[in-house]
Amino acid sequence: MSESPLKGTLVFEPIKVGDVTLSNRIVYCPTTRFRAAKSSQEVGAHLPSDLMLEYYSQRAQYPGTLLVTEATYVSRAAGGYDDVPAISTEEETKAWKKIVDAVHAKKSFISLQAWFLGRVADPRVLKKEGQKYVAPSAIYPDSKSEHLSAKAELPLTELTLEEIDRLIKVDYTEAAKNAMKAGFDMFEIHGAHGYLPDTFLHENSNQRKDKYGGSIENRARFILDLIDHLCTVIPPSKLAIRLSPWAEIQGIYEETSPIPQFSYLLDQLQKRANDGKELAYISVVEPRVQGVVTVDLDTMKGSNQFVEEVWKGITLRAGNYTYDAPEFKQIKQDVANGRTLVGFSRFFTSNPDLVYKLKNDPSKLVKYQRKLFYQPYNWGYNTFDGKDYDEETEKKRYARPIQRSEANL
Ligand SMILES: Cc1cc2nc3c(=O)[nH]c(=O)nc-3n(C[C@H](O)[C@H](O)[C@H](O)COP(=O)(O)O)c2cc1C
Repeated sequence: MSESPLKGTLVFEPIKVGDVTLSNRIVYCPTTRFRAAKSSQEVGAHLPSDLMLEYYSQRAQYPGTLLVTEATYVSRAAGGYDDVPAISTEEETKAWKKIVDAVHAKKSFISLQAWFLGRVADPRVLKKEGQKYVAPSAIYPDSKSEHLSAKAELPLTELTLEEIDRLIKVDYTEAAKNAMKAGFDMFEIHGAHGYLPDTFLHENSNQRKDKYGGSIENRARFILDLIDHLCTVIPPSKLAIRLSPWAEIQGIYEETSPIPQFSYLLDQLQKRANDGKELAYISVVEPRVQGVVTVDLDTMKGSNQFVEEVWKGITLRAGNYTYDAPEFKQIKQDVANGRTLVGFSRFFTSNPDLVYKLKNDPSKLVKYQRKLFYQPYNWGYNTFDGKDYDEETEKKRYARPIQRSEANL
């Protein structure tokens, strides 16, 4: 037995989140794995697969744990990668229900992460699926996207006000309703990492001249309109959002501090909470990571301390919480306020029993293999093999484009 497991600490005290009570404060954070299957009628593969069913059931094994699903398209228009699940048809909703039921059978809980790619989408995939390529402003995230867009003859276009309205009232709304039909405990808007909602927040991706751009208030308006509308569709206690104030990836960068923009948004969400519309949780990505890559602690930029000063509800923080294992001082410090959950993604890929290991014996943690994150088929997914890992190969592979699969069942 190694020293300092988290057993007996606040991490293993129950906590109410939304309408459910978790047995512990360790959360599986969203982790895209490209294992959706092809339905009979479609061009793309967006049907939650039985591989996924097994994957989530394994990670639900410690009763009372909260899992957040991989990012999931709210509609066909939201897409732009192959092999990502959606929750917009009856068939997809039913396939998700099987997964939700399996997680509930283990007495754990599950939140759906709702995705709209926007300008980060692959225009070739959108073209193939007959969709538009849209963003708050027609600003490509990088030259590669611009090139692919020209090749696909599908230019990036600025969303019209009518399109924004439809996106909120139809795309996200139908997905939220479907998530409730499937029995999800929560619906988490993916507002991080340069995808559509996040691109509204940043000046370098939002140069709109209407009510959705031009000022801090206007740049926050899309997310607030979306949340206000969804609160009329599902209970606020079932709604959540993920934000990444410090992420500078996928074309997002900050010329000034992100704190004023994000504080305003959080303050608005706190005001709604004070009026009886409190979200289940707000998830934030820690600056210890940039996307899926660990940041050197010496060069790390910023801190999420401001988040918990403004937002008084439940916060879920994630990003390299193993850096000080096995002492886990950071986890103990962050949960001390009694309203913070700590999220893991990479170590959950290689440790389906992560919660047990953190509780009892962190020395048994198996290092993840980056090259297996997005591998098609089952190897390294439900049959994780901890062999064959080396840092150099990992880095090289990460720099290469992700390989995508056809159907994975
Ligand atoms: C393979 C992989 C896929 C990911 N997919 C998503 C995703 O779908 N949505 C999301 O918000 N974050 C995604 N992330 C980011 C994680 O949720 C998390 O913020 C990040 O990995 C840092 O946490 P960690 O250090 O515990 O891995 C992904 C990370 C990995 C490694």
